Order: sequence, then C-alpha cells, then structure tokens
Amino acid sequence: MEISDEQAAQALLRWYAEMGVDEAVAPQAADLYSWTATKPTPIAQTRTLARPAPNQAAPQTQPVTTEETQSTDAAIAAAEKIAAACDTYEALEAAVKSFEGCPLKSGAKNTVFTDGVVGADLLVIGEAPGRDEDQAGKPFIGRAGQLLDRMLASIGRTRTENTLISNIVFWRPPANRNPTPLETAVCRPFVDRLIELSTPKVILIAGGAPLQALLGITGIMRARGVWREIETANGTKVPTLPTYHPAFLLRQPAGKRLAWADLQSLAERLKDH
Ligand code: URA
Repeated sequence: MEISDEQAAQALLRWYAEMGVDEAVAPQAADLYSWTATKPTPIAQTRTLARPAPNQAAPQTQPVTTEETQSTDAAIAAAEKIAAACDTYEALEAAVKSFEGCPLKSGAKNTVFTDGVVGADLLVIGEAPGRDEDQAGKPFIGRAGQLLDRMLASIGRTRTENTLISNIVFWRPPANRNPTPLETAVCRPFVDRLIELSTPKVILIAGGAPLQALLGITGIMRARGVWREIETANGTKVPTLPTYHPAFLLRQPAGKRLAWADLQSLAERLKDH
C-alpha cells in the first residue's frame, strides 16, 4: 500500500509523541546517542578558579583546562572545582547556568536551578525539571509542583516565605526519563554547594531518584520517613527526610497518608531548630 507524504509525516509525529518528544526546544535536534559515559559533551569553558582549602588563608588558583574536560571524570572534577569556588548563592547560580559539562543541557530550553527563599531553613530537593519547568526555568511548577505546594502549605511552608526548592539535575531529561547516574554525578557538586551556601536546617528529599543520588540508597518505599544525614563535599552535615515524590502521589493517592506522616515529622523537626 502506498502512503502519502502527509500520512508519513503524521505517522512520524505520532511516533515522536509516543517516544515523549512533545515539543521542539531547539532549531536542531540533539543527538542523544552521542551521550555516552566515555564521551561526554566537552566543556567549552576554561577559567581560573580559586578553591580555598580548609583553614587556608590564601586561596590557591587552579586552571581548568579544555583537556581536563574530555572525559566524564573530568566533567565531574570541573564541576567540583567550579562549585567549590563559588562563595555566594548568586555566583553558584551563574556558574550552573554557564556550565556546559552536563549532557542534558543541550536538549533543554532553560536551566532550572532553584525557586524560593535562599537561606530558608527548609530545602526541598526533587528529581528533574519536566516540560513546564523547562519552559519557565523554575522547578516544580507543573501538576506535581502544585501538589508539592499544597503539601508544604499544610505545614505552613511556602516558596515565597520559608522554603527553597531545587532538583538533583538542572536540565530537563529528554522525554522526561529519569536522570542517569552520570548526569546526577556531574550536577552533584552544585547540589552540594547549594546546600552549603543556602544553609538549610533540614532537607526534604522528594522521590527515589534524589534518594539514590544524594544518599546512595535505593527503595523509597522502605527509606521514606526515616531521618538520615547527608554530608556534602566540604563536610557539612544536614538531616534529610525522604518522602514520596508528588508525581507518584498523583498516580497513587493512597500514598498520601504516609506522605502526610512524613510532613508531620518534618514540621516537628523544623520546630526544634
Ligand atoms: N518533578 C521534579 O522532581 N522536579 C521538578 O522540578 C518538577 C517535577
């Protein structure tokens, strides 16, 4: 059977939609198959960084060369150096926005770093920006984000007053898939530095992916509701509470009872500080 160009184009569009490709964010398609663990997107930037060592008065400067960025390990090392050299939240935000070492960036429209109050005693860390977040450049603003807002409001928390929100990666993964270990590892130094600079008393970990990326634990069902400490690159320790991701709760409302218990535990802990 002959098919017309129009039918072929429609079939192609349907296939794209089934694969999760639901919008064009760049004039040219990103080559996702070139993203391998051994051949990451090279980092274009070359900059001199000051990384103060503990108890050291004069900061040392170390160049980050282009050669250093030719492997995944080098991309992580570059992220570590860049993040450690940021002494303010504003510097960190600018560094994340200009960082080219995470392969997710080339497929995203915007960098999605944080939303809320920097310096708040509560930091929420989710998984990854989705379509709405990528469009707006802000985390958790789609349906899951709206549920997160309602969950937080139930314990007197809002992103305009007393909560900061971020994710373990800062660019939308293609077709909203989970971020890979490589992608989370490259972003991790920036997450650590965000924790160090925004000084939360408590971190709410929303979902299994951030649980795995931040604490190395699999299985949100068993891990949720249990307080654990995260230790960042510079040795800062912060209590964390894993709970269900709001997107999971939208699909499985029965989980809300346990999420509610987690929120009560969170509110109690915040009262102590
Ligand atoms: N889900 C997340 O984990 N983060 C967002 O920013 C949006 C949805």
